[in-house]
Amino acid sequence: MDAILKKLFSSEDEELYILDCLSYFMMFMAFVTFLALLFVNVPYGRYASSRYGFPVHVTIAWFIQELPAILLPLALTLSSCAKITHLPNQLLLLMYFCHYTQRSLVYPFLIRGGKATPFISFALAFVFCIYNGYLQTRYLSHYAEYPPDWVTRPYFITGSCLWLIGWIINIHSDHILRNLRKPGETGYKIPRGGMFNYVSGANFLGEIVEWAGFALAAHSIHSAAFAIFTLVVLSSRAISHHKWYLAKFEDYPKSRRALIPFVF
Ligand SMILES: NC(=O)c1ccc[n+]([C@@H]2O[C@H](COP(=O)([O-])OP(=O)(O)OC[C@H]3O[C@@H](n4cnc5c(N)ncnc54)[C@H](OP(=O)(O)O)[C@@H]3O)[C@@H](O)[C@H]2O)c1
Repeated sequence: MDAILKKLFSSEDEELYILDCLSYFMMFMAFVTFLALLFVNVPYGRYASSRYGFPVHVTIAWFIQELPAILLPLALTLSSCAKITHLPNQLLLLMYFCHYTQRSLVYPFLIRGGKATPFISFALAFVFCIYNGYLQTRYLSHYAEYPPDWVTRPYFITGSCLWLIGWIINIHSDHILRNLRKPGETGYKIPRGGMFNYVSGANFLGEIVEWAGFALAAHSIHSAAFAIFTLVVLSSRAISHHKWYLAKFEDYPKSRRALIPFVF
């Protein structure tokens, strides 16, 4: 991995500059995605359509598309990683790896009756995982510099707590959704319990809080870009799901909101 990076970049300054550019480009893409999502839903799951390519089996799609988010960072952190001995960097990398180990190695094999993923959605997710995996973990393992007492400062403590709360909400909510279906079923039911008592997009709320907390703890343009991208994609999905539930189920709980409990 070291040899590849040395061929790609003439110096560390150049690589750091490219990492910054990638972050700004991700923010720009978040804005473009925001505009696009005013007109279409990201086409997978209940919004899957054959217009976006041939169907890829849902477990294979999630496993393969998320795998680079763990394999590339592993390769990066096992090769040259100047900052890996620093505690703040270690803890932030641990947060990233906890999430993506669950997402790529556990989540795909628990899915029940999920719709096949259109090839274009699968390919875009695959590319995003390479892009974001490199961006987050290369910065944290090789460049990010924190004061020695960073882990005791309010930004880090608050951000880490938010990350943990968000991760728990995300995993718990995905667990509730999965258990709505008996083996072999593929239809939809009204989710109840946990944060679903308050919002239709409970799993998305969890993930948004998770990466917002990560960005607060990491305090970098790179983590902020990822948090913004996640917010754009998942808030749109939560709103679409909420409208979809209201149209499909007459007895859908009226007090339930789309994404923010009691508010929206
Ligand atoms: N960081 C990011 O940018 C990002 C982007 C996308 C997703 N994610 C995360 O990936 C995970 C999955 O996302 P997703 O968009 O696939 O979530 P989703 O639309 O809520 O679907 C999750 C799973 O639950 C099933 N399901 C959903 N609602 C159901 C209901 N009412 N009754 C029965 N089954 C139901 C779905 O089946 P069907 O396939 O049949 O609909 C699918 O298998 C979430 O944790 C999300 O936060 C993160």
